[in-house]
Amino acid sequence: MAETGKNIEEAARLLSQGQLVAIPTETVYGLAANALDETAVLAIFAAKNRPFFDPLIVHTHNIESLYRYAVLSDERLRLLAQHFWPGPLTLLLPKTELIPDLVTSGLNQVAIRIPNHPLTLRLLQSLPFPLAAPSANPFGYVSPTQSSHVNDQLGKQVAYILEGGPSTVGLESTIVGMEDQTLCIYRLGGLAIEDIENVAGPAELRLNQSSNPKAPGQLKSHYAPKTKLLLGPLNALLQTYAKVPKAVLYMGPSRTSEPNTLFLNLSESSNLNEAAIQLFKLLRMADNSGMELVLCEEVPEIGLGRAINDRLRRAATRE
Ligand code: TXA
Ligand code: MG
Repeated sequence: MAETGKNIEEAARLLSQGQLVAIPTETVYGLAANALDETAVLAIFAAKNRPFFDPLIVHTHNIESLYRYAVLSDERLRLLAQHFWPGPLTLLLPKTELIPDLVTSGLNQVAIRIPNHPLTLRLLQSLPFPLAAPSANPFGYVSPTQSSHVNDQLGKQVAYILEGGPSTVGLESTIVGMEDQTLCIYRLGGLAIEDIENVAGPAELRLNQSSNPKAPGQLKSHYAPKTKLLLGPLNALLQTYAKVPKAVLYMGPSRTSEPNTLFLNLSESSNLNEAAIQLFKLLRMADNSGMELVLCEEVPEIGLGRAINDRLRRAATRE
């Protein structure tokens, strides 16, 4: 078990020594280290068992502090930054010399985000360096949306967990960048495309680049539980697997669990924001339920529904 608490000074002290601290954000918990210290950054990759081709997001507390690390000159990206930061948005920007190549996997763009969590913003403000932080889960597994998730899997690897309560968005940030004057979305996430397009105009989806991904959230299999997960029309799946012990993720009017069927409700009122908040927690519950299968079906493809479906598809078992 890692020490868990709300002591920002302690978190800052450990980070200044090059240690790993789990930090709360509105999207998911991050596994943070000094982004300018290569040895500390290496420890992130080791703790997560993460391949070096998967670059890290750098977190700062305001736009002024970002200029030391990245160039924010594109007009549309500036608009997005002004509208949605602090928030579930990550921008890919040309990096400055200060950012080690290890952080960007040798790419000349760095992913930057200003997270919207009061404790983490205060922590960032108190530090003379930005924080590199991937989601605080082993590589490829479901992201953590509460401190106990971090403790369960990375409790031995982190020096301290900053307790910030459950994440209020529940999905990782949406990753946006520019390519040849085109606004591109590389990962669907906690900021809906509709909101992005309202502010910055049309955007193109560039997901799913399975080899040499720009963003490994783009890897086809990711966010995956250990238990086999089947995605399809729920009633048909329930009939086919009537006799098999299973956990079922669903949305809508509540259903009663039976001895061999554990029903887990993402949102009784079919509210997609609530479903986003619940998704990873319930996926973990399903995975830890001891059932043989996890069944679920896609949600409506609007707003955060797109990002939820994206995670479900990547979590699903490919036959
Ligand atoms: O909401 C979030 O984004 C959370 C919280 C902790 O901020 N972080 C997160 O980090 O989800 P991670 O490492 O699990 O996912 C970051 C994604 C990866 O898929 C990575 O490939 C992409 O961002 N990324 C990071 N730097 C990049 C870069 N320079 N170019 C392209 N993609 C990059
Ligand atoms: Mg991740």
